[in-house]
Amino acid sequence: MTETDGNPFELAKQAAEVIAKRSGIKTHDIALTLGSGWGKAAELLGETVSEIPADEVPGFFSSGIPGHSGLIRSISLSQGKHALVVGARTHFYEDKGVRAVAHSVRTAAATGATIMVLTNGAGGIKEQWKPGTPVLISDHINLTASSPLEGATFIDLTDLYSARLREIARSVDSGLDEGVYVQFRGPHYETPAEVQMAKTMGGHIVGMSTALEAIAAREAGMEILGLSLITNLAAGISPNPLSHKEVIEAGQSAEPVISKLLAEIVAKL
Ligand code: HPA
Repeated sequence: MTETDGNPFELAKQAAEVIAKRSGIKTHDIALTLGSGWGKAAELLGETVSEIPADEVPGFFSSGIPGHSGLIRSISLSQGKHALVVGARTHFYEDKGVRAVAHSVRTAAATGATIMVLTNGAGGIKEQWKPGTPVLISDHINLTASSPLEGATFIDLTDLYSARLREIARSVDSGLDEGVYVQFRGPHYETPAEVQMAKTMGGHIVGMSTALEAIAAREAGMEILGLSLITNLAAGISPNPLSHKEVIEAGQSAEPVISKLLAEIVAKL
């Protein structure tokens, strides 16, 4: 797919049709994108009805690692609802275009989901957030200079990250802090000066994924819950340099705890 091919909503509809056919589930209620550190939640949410390799669904790409396609899972939840877990996020920095970035969210909406749970691993600007801390996203600053919306599509982003859903999350863990997520293009991590800029602008979390997806989810009419796992203190906040390996390891060690937290939150949605 290129930026000029076809209609992104039509492609999302085709993807949703394939998911409905392969899973036997006509309508999903809740969709989740599981970022770094959140993957184990898929096993805790409920009973997996179906797993589909993402590259067998229109518009999705394989992960680029041979034999490791992301999975799209349909899960039956204890409260009788169905969740769609999209394990195939396309990042803006992959240069596949904003349509590719928004496709998973648009597909989720086309399957019927009215709630989009967006999770990620991210850098923390608040010093008290130790690596492994989950935080709620209360708002965002989009520094990608891009938007998933095309043409004169004027969408209100007030309360983009639903206060109602944040309250539900806090009813599971009253200690959950929240912050403003700042999306940079990446894939390089920020410089300390860029982190200071983000902080001065009112940001608390730095990452490379969620703001553009949230905008597409809002356009699709979904209610959004955003959760970041702080995998590291952002550049310059801690005296130590950032290492991708440490980011991944922090995600892995926090995974059991935050995945359980997420499963408990989803059970209340
Ligand atoms: N910056 C941006 N993205 C990230 C970071 C970070 O410090 N950590 C994990 N993802």
